Amino acid sequence: MPTTLSQSDLPGLELIHRGKVRDVYALPGNRLLMVATDRLSAFDVVLPDPIPGKGEMLTQISNFWFEKTAHLMPNHLTGEDVRSVLPAGVDPALYAKRAVITKRLKPVPVEAIARGYLIGSGWKDYQATGALCGIALPAGLQQAQKLPAPIFTPSTKAAVGDHDENVSFDSVVSQVGEELANAVRDATLKIYAFAAAHAAERGIIVADTKFEFGTDENGVLHIMDEMLTPDSSRFWPADKYQVGISPPSYDKQFVRDYLEQVGWNKQPPAPKVPADVIAGTAAKYAEALDKLAGIRLD
Ligand SMILES: Nc1ncnc2c1ncn2[C@@H]1O[C@H](COP(=O)(O)OP(=O)(O)OP(=O)(O)O)[C@@H](O)[C@H]1O
Ligand SMILES: [Mg+2]
Repeated sequence: MPTTLSQSDLPGLELIHRGKVRDVYALPGNRLLMVATDRLSAFDVVLPDPIPGKGEMLTQISNFWFEKTAHLMPNHLTGEDVRSVLPAGVDPALYAKRAVITKRLKPVPVEAIARGYLIGSGWKDYQATGALCGIALPAGLQQAQKLPAPIFTPSTKAAVGDHDENVSFDSVVSQVGEELANAVRDATLKIYAFAAAHAAERGIIVADTKFEFGTDENGVLHIMDEMLTPDSSRFWPADKYQVGISPPSYDKQFVRDYLEQVGWNKQPPAPKVPADVIAGTAAKYAEALDKLAGIRLD
């Protein structure tokens, strides 16, 4: 059975960050303990109810991809057993599948987004400007159409409560330097291409995805954070894909539809969500994990 955890509680460990989904603790030796909770955010607001097992599924999906792409790019995982750092008295079962020990890297301050399809804010941008984040595209593309080639559209990492903002590649260059900017772009596109090909064999389209990178004490670039999860990506079932309409996705669409339907103003606090919507969302995460990685947690 999956465990449910809304908020981690690890007495004696130093909590350094509580994001919308993850709780991050400092460990000795310049390491982190990252705990994916079962919190769900929609429209950038955390919902009052957890999605049982979601954090475990997220962590297992990321772990799958980190391993699968290790030949392309070093990643932040140390491979150590989480149980070795849990304080006495903490139930290991609660954390074993949802937490990882990582190297503590120096974050590159951009969200590295790869887009293979014209959807979401990219579609809006294209309709308004004929380009995507300043990158010229052919005229006459339709919603959800596959792009001639995947593109890198960086955005800023927003502070809590803010939305991320698209930025030009040049602004990334001026922020982190040309060498690092190029390395991040190249890695983003290379990993996206690899992952999209793998997912395609399993009937899933990776429409777009967000990566985060960091450098170690020797300046070596690593991929960190989460990787190719439903929270950081748009996954579409390939058999439902059709140009011109926004395809259903393997993520929060269930919850988003419900929240739109009840007319929530998208300001905190978010309303409670009925049990069937919660169960439906959990099932979507489980399906993504099973389809992409061939892993079933229950
Ligand atoms: N190996 C790492 N070294 C240093 N920082 C990391 C590493 N991996 C991830 N991070 C950072 O840890 C944090 C993880 O938090 P989390 O993703 O839950 O919340 P957030 O990014 O603040 O908000 P959001 O909920 O919008 O994602 C992020 O700031 C991420 O950049
Ligand atoms: Mg994050």
